Amino acid sequence: MIEFKYAKGFVDEAEYQKVIDVTRTYVARAEQDAFGGWVNLPINYDKVEFERIKKAAKKINDDSDYLVCIGIGGSYLGHRAVIEALGGEKGRTKILYAGNSLSVRSIRRIVDQIGDADFSVNVISKSGTTTEPAVAFRIFKQMLIDKYGTEEAAKRIYATTDAAKGALHDEAVAKGYESFVVPDNIGGRYSVLSAVGLLAIAVAGVSIDALMDGAAEERTALISDGGAAAEYAALRNVLLTKGFNIEILANFEPQFTYFNEWWKQLFGESEGKDEKGVFPASVIDSTDLHSMGQYIQQGRRNLFETFVEVTRDYADMMVPVTEDNLDGLKYLEGRELDYINKTANAATREAHVAGGVPVLEIVMPDIDERSIGGLIYFFEMSCALSGFTLGVNPFDQPGVEAYKTRMFELLGKPGYEK
Ligand code: PA5
Repeated sequence: MIEFKYAKGFVDEAEYQKVIDVTRTYVARAEQDAFGGWVNLPINYDKVEFERIKKAAKKINDDSDYLVCIGIGGSYLGHRAVIEALGGEKGRTKILYAGNSLSVRSIRRIVDQIGDADFSVNVISKSGTTTEPAVAFRIFKQMLIDKYGTEEAAKRIYATTDAAKGALHDEAVAKGYESFVVPDNIGGRYSVLSAVGLLAIAVAGVSIDALMDGAAEERTALISDGGAAAEYAALRNVLLTKGFNIEILANFEPQFTYFNEWWKQLFGESEGKDEKGVFPASVIDSTDLHSMGQYIQQGRRNLFETFVEVTRDYADMMVPVTEDNLDGLKYLEGRELDYINKTANAATREAHVAGGVPVLEIVMPDIDERSIGGLIYFFEMSCALSGFTLGVNPFDQPGVEAYKTRMFELLGKPGYEK
């Protein structure tokens, strides 16, 4: 289960208590929302499709050196976050990510990396019409057809999209691609524990049963009154009213780089609207202590920091013992690296609090499937409760349309001519 702690002294406890009493009431609102399908997903998912995902993952591991996952935003960040946080692909099939940019250099690099190897494609788009993945899908579909012929290419394409509508849905039906469903009542950034994320995660050799179990356990902890997720959501809203309008998610595990990206999308797209919201940023330490660390310690005092910590000690590598002490590290000889990393985390928290940065802590038991499943659910619930507390709809993203409309006008898409 995920724990939440925070450094006292930055907010008035009575004021925080008033906000949290309201925040706790929003669990029911999230559950009843037309886009609240993620709330009960860990205990209420399509078991038949779940088994089909495992079967498809096995086939892909049997016949593909690469799986190209095509999707953008909520259609790729979640599974990339999980796979990388858990240390990457364990089996034969390596995952490549396309459709999240229109950069020819980036797509060329993937094409070159695949070379003559065997590959399959998982194209993921709820709407089925997002330009970036649609363009990438055309390119990789053509590559599959050139390599394997039309019939075998169709067997190597897995489409994850709406159950009944959209261009991708229609194409999947017409061409007979194996299809998985993006549930109607779950938005992209809350969808990682649906087929959107689970196929790639299963292909990477991660136990999707354990991931779902972890999320279900966290759901039990939060479902009555939001538990620790409500505390976190309420506190970030109180901090916002005090002028702390930037939140930095700080992590001491480089494997969490994409988890941070997923978190930024979750909170940025859910809360940044109606001229409101905390701006989500992230750092990976110690790396960023030597770049962003200076600003965090002494720059403008409008930011707070949320540290992700892991309880379990990972005893795997020690500082070697040597005869001399030329590098001055005698005092660390025989110490576990994990202990030193955790000490760096604690020291950073203390230094930043002393520098006037409100510090929040999210503590997870371990870095394994169950804990990651729990952490995902914790942040999803926190984000929904925080958005409602802020007074916005945490499940829409109307602002994303603005660049699309202008791009379509500039590209001359029919119906968008000026
Ligand atoms: O969270 C969201 O809803 C968005 O980030 C979408 O996932 C993203 O825009 C991709 O949309 P689609 O899956 O329809 O291609």
